[in-house]
Amino acid sequence: TGLAGLLSGDFKLGTALSNTTLLGQNPDIEALVAWEFSAITAENAMKWEEVHPDAETWDWQRADHFVDYGHRNGMYNIGHTLVWHSQIPESVFVDGHGRLRPAADVNKTMETHIATLAGRYRGKIHAWDVVNEAVTDEGQWRESHWYKSQGEDYFSRAFHLAREVDPNAELLYNDYNMTIPAKRDFALAQITKFRSRGMPIHGVGMQAHVHLSDPEIARLEASIETIAAAGLDVHITELDVDVLPQAYDYMGAEISTNFEYSDELNPFAEGLPQNVVDELAARYESLFRLFLKHKDKIRRVSLWGTTDGESWKNDWPVRGRTNYPLLFDRDGNPKQAYRAIAGLK
Ligand code: XIL
Repeated sequence: TGLAGLLSGDFKLGTALSNTTLLGQNPDIEALVAWEFSAITAENAMKWEEVHPDAETWDWQRADHFVDYGHRNGMYNIGHTLVWHSQIPESVFVDGHGRLRPAADVNKTMETHIATLAGRYRGKIHAWDVVNEAVTDEGQWRESHWYKSQGEDYFSRAFHLAREVDPNAELLYNDYNMTIPAKRDFALAQITKFRSRGMPIHGVGMQAHVHLSDPEIARLEASIETIAAAGLDVHITELDVDVLPQAYDYMGAEISTNFEYSDELNPFAEGLPQNVVDELAARYESLFRLFLKHKDKIRRVSLWGTTDGESWKNDWPVRGRTNYPLLFDRDGNPKQAYRAIAGLK
């Protein structure tokens, strides 16, 4: 059915489900997703701070709905994400007196988290984003709490643990700006090193939070080829196309940083002019042309949301803007970009 049906011989086509949808508040989006997509990721529901807000507390409501929904609709379920520096309580790393916890305790916490979360859904999650965003744009380990506490070993530990807990799930490393050679090559070198010592991993997720012309198709292509040449499946993850002015140089900025709103940074509050609608459709068309060209390397392409109204890109990196990054408009109707992709098949 839908776009996923058209692409079914090529790769899985996914989207992300917001918390509101998982709480049953968007029945129209639920129906649309079931019709149009064959893979799902929880936009927030499986992140540490949501599912495991403190050591003794687990909140399964939204994550359970996510897994049930995927199961009912025969979808490829992606777990996002086991180990990340963001959206995780500080208390994992710091005690009540503001002191860093001993490395062995932090390690144990990671083990419990992976065993409990991946264990609950064993056999029901097809792919886990085991580690998210561990590398800087300059090609170094990110100096996260994880890295500072455990050194680089936390990375391979996470994959080994995930494998033990759910031996059939595909295990992925996921990151943004994987078109930056220094970053991509460092990540692949680390993965290759750990793999040679027995670390299980199946693929790399290239987060694709792109803009109308940045990054260039040739740079995306080079990374798809390089990842595949390292013997890893390519997953295109978190795809959206930001049509708004780039408020700052993305590279190096913290994901939690909020920038000041100005009308100048929100030019399309009244609607998207036809020339930009065309540009957006052309951008999606060239992206999917590229993905189809490399379908032998690409296991899955996932959008980061379904309708423009629910996209995080309305609020990041500047709050309160009107963005148009996805394939369905605010009423749930397919956009010109959708038709451009469908027209490729
Ligand atoms: C974003 C969500 O879309 C927002 O709702 C949330 O407030 C912040 O996180 N990289 C990731 C995703 O791996 O988990 C992030 O999702 C976007 C960037």
